[in-house]
Amino acid sequence: MEYNNIVIQVKEGIATLTFNRPEILNALNEEMLKEFSNALDEIYANQDIRVLILTGAGEKSFIAGADIKQFLTFSPLKAKSFSEMGRLLMNKLQELPIPVIAAVNGYALGGGCEVAMACDFIYASENAMFGLPEITLGIIPGFGGTQRLPRLVGESMAKELIFTGQMISAQEAKNMGLANKVCSQEQLMDDVIQTAKAITSKGKVSVRAAKQAISNGMNVDLATGCSIEIDAFALCFTSPDAKEGALAFMEKRRPDFKGSLKE
Ligand code: CAA
Repeated sequence: MEYNNIVIQVKEGIATLTFNRPEILNALNEEMLKEFSNALDEIYANQDIRVLILTGAGEKSFIAGADIKQFLTFSPLKAKSFSEMGRLLMNKLQELPIPVIAAVNGYALGGGCEVAMACDFIYASENAMFGLPEITLGIIPGFGGTQRLPRLVGESMAKELIFTGQMISAQEAKNMGLANKVCSQEQLMDDVIQTAKAITSKGKVSVRAAKQAISNGMNVDLATGCSIEIDAFALCFTSPDAKEGALAFMEKRRPDFKGSLKE
């Protein structure tokens, strides 16, 4: 598919989706959001893609939020449908069955921070800045920020960041559990790809089962979460990979995971 605002590259089972409007710091307009949604459908349908990486074009920004210009013409109804579209899109991203890593290479503000938070985890470059500055524009986060940030960093820290609109550095984001790792700008993509390769070397079925168990278990009580895990554990045995993993251990060799379900 042809895109004007994003670029997708696929290599060795790893897809990299780059938000590509560097002249306005990769701010999200409606066309870009639609392209992002179509790209996620395309990635979902491609069984060869094992990990998705999201990043921004240029050295300054991941995504500087929704395109602020469009808010000038918004009615309450339009604002509602825009936010609803964001919800569907963030859910589609979060529910992708493969792991998704945000390679945050600069500003991750507003909708940009919300995209990063809907990924499975975040690696950030040293110059990255995170924040939900919507309050400074007289609005609030509209793509799930008031819900995902407190779940990631705790309610009181999220309230302080959202009430003040304050930006935080990559290191502060790491300290509060928002980012997993801080890398130099030059090293960021190499580090993310190294982690993506570590994931693609594992069984496709077991990685998906692990994501499903963790993600679906996060918002339910422990007993229900453990039931979800039981089903996901059993699902692993629908693939020959489960036997191959144990055999390889016994035979003291590397497993050769086929990543398929049983014939
Ligand atoms: N929307 C539209 N244009 C944007 C933008 C945005 N979110 N962020 C940056 N730009 C544009 C600027 O207008 C500027 O364009 P011009 O060259 O035509 O003037 C260009 O990108 C470069 O930006 P700056 O000159 O401002 O660069 P800077 O280095 O001085 O500052 C910045 C960088 C701190 C990120 C600053 O651009 C900024 O504060 N941007 C807005 C961030 C923001 O408020 N994001 C939240 C948006 S609302 C939202 O996302 C709602 C939601 O939940 C979905």
